[in-house]
Amino acid sequence: MKGEPVTLVDHPLEDAGPPGRREPAVRELTVRGLVLEAEDVLTVELTGAGLPAWTPGAHVDLIINDGTVRQYSLCGTPDATSLTVAVRHEPGGRGGSDWVHRALRPGDRVTIRGVKNHFELERADGYVLIAGGVGITPLLPMAERLAAEGRAWRLAYIGRTAARMPFLERIRALGPRATVHETAVSGRPPIDGLLDGPGLVYVCGPGTLIEAVRDALDARGQGERLRAEYFRAPDDADAAEPGAFTLRLERSGLDLAVPAGRSALDVVTEAGVDVLRDCEEGICGSCETTVLAGEVDHRDHVLTARERAANACMMLCVSRAAGPRLVLDL
Ligand code: FES
Repeated sequence: MKGEPVTLVDHPLEDAGPPGRREPAVRELTVRGLVLEAEDVLTVELTGAGLPAWTPGAHVDLIINDGTVRQYSLCGTPDATSLTVAVRHEPGGRGGSDWVHRALRPGDRVTIRGVKNHFELERADGYVLIAGGVGITPLLPMAERLAAEGRAWRLAYIGRTAARMPFLERIRALGPRATVHETAVSGRPPIDGLLDGPGLVYVCGPGTLIEAVRDALDARGQGERLRAEYFRAPDDADAAEPGAFTLRLERSGLDLAVPAGRSALDVVTEAGVDVLRDCEEGICGSCETTVLAGEVDHRDHVLTARERAANACMMLCVSRAAGPRLVLDL
């Protein structure tokens, strides 16, 4: 409601499982509807009992028939009686979008895990939201929330053509603070021109867009304003060569050696301990694991600075030990 304080949380919303664990709940839901929202973009509406609460920026893990996991931002409205995700068909991708587009039908049962939110709206004086293509999905509920609560915000939605850009009707309903930029018509807007004003800059889309926003903010000396959600992990050419360390898996009673150049996730999986995986690039959050002792060298693009400092969890696919040993709740 306009004029009331914005509903922001200090900690990412997690749809937690048992107390003391950070494992979000797994649920079976029913496909209520499928809508071709734009060229190659299908929205999937899911319904069922006990739907989890969520806040803008949240995503769910969709567990595909063969057991692989794909992350999709929630793009409906948080008070709805269903969960909605939007999936762009990537025929050359890793299979998740192909399954959604070709195999899924209304009435099908699907398994989701979560919700999780590593892209939460933080308290700020203002908000600049920049979406590239289907990167609009987490930012649209953010814009709608900020508009409803009378906050200072702007949204720039960048895509190749309007036909390929989902949710244009909802975007237009937001009024002049939301602008649509068709690059096939007018080219990409100058990024620096989008960044004026106070507060945080939330960007979601291809890595090239995120890096352009990062560079523009750095040039202004305002790099700390950036909040980004990647589709793919950025190249990290400066990362130090990963060294060896040991893992203690407390519940399994296993001690494992992680050699230089191998991921903790691979070593744990090889030892017969199941940990979900998807991106293996530190961007999806699937392999998040509770850390019981030891200091983590965080290399993911999921956790916030505060979560990193808390040292309570890590992404096993890319993060490593900062010291000789880590103890994990596995
Ligand atoms: S598998 Fe995606 S963050 Fe580890």
